[in-house]
Amino acid sequence: MSSEPAGAGSGPGDHADRLRWNAKYAAGFVPSFVPHPLAVRVLSMDRSDGPVAELACGPSGAALLAAANGCQVTAVDVSDIALGMLGDKARRHGLDHLITLVHADLSAWRPEPRSYAVVLCTGFWESAVFTAAAELVASGGLLAWEAFTAQARRSRPSLQADWCLAPSEPASLLPPDFTLLDQHDRGLKRQMLARRAPTATPEPHVPLPTMPTVALRL
Ligand SMILES: C[S@@+](CC[C@H](N)C(=O)[O-])C[C@H]1O[C@@H](n2cnc3c(N)ncnc32)[C@H](O)[C@@H]1O
Repeated sequence: MSSEPAGAGSGPGDHADRLRWNAKYAAGFVPSFVPHPLAVRVLSMDRSDGPVAELACGPSGAALLAAANGCQVTAVDVSDIALGMLGDKARRHGLDHLITLVHADLSAWRPEPRSYAVVLCTGFWESAVFTAAAELVASGGLLAWEAFTAQARRSRPSLQADWCLAPSEPASLLPPDFTLLDQHDRGLKRQMLARRAPTATPEPHVPLPTMPTVALRL
């Protein structure tokens, strides 16, 4: 397993999200490593063999599931404690060679555009991160997201407005070359699944078959 810090000077350092989530994970949090249902769904779909990116992965089972299916996985999180938990579990299951752990703030993480067959994110929302994540999806690739809706703030007032989806988001933020496959609410959260159009490949030139000459009998 390789671990990549964010680029020099752009690491999470004392980023508020890192401190908040590290505190949560360090306080006796026991990860289940059960893959999120959206991860199970997207990984079972028709897709190319390219790599999978899981954003705000936490100590989740989705990266493990993708690796167990033979995918190269990039797992990104601002919490080094969460990545440590995921890394330990991957090592115990012999999957570490397939998983690259990236310790980064998603607002600043910018890998090669169109480089992932699947981009998955559950339990995190920032509209600018969604827009950047859509850029990472390869032609024909899948983008899967789940986050709290704005209505969730009624029952969970501690949720900040910008952590929640506005009506019709995230589908309304998809670039035009994506097709929305599904968007539906599940309790306080909304799930979305979309596919980027495959790049049109030029039709190969097929010469017309030569017709046998038929003599006309008059
Ligand atoms: C609710 S947990 C979701 C974990 C996992 N995706 C799941 O569905 O179980 C939110 C995750 O987002 C990560 N996170 C929060 N802010 C982040 C940021 N700015 N950049 C990267 N990761 C972040 C946290 O460390 C945490 O692991």
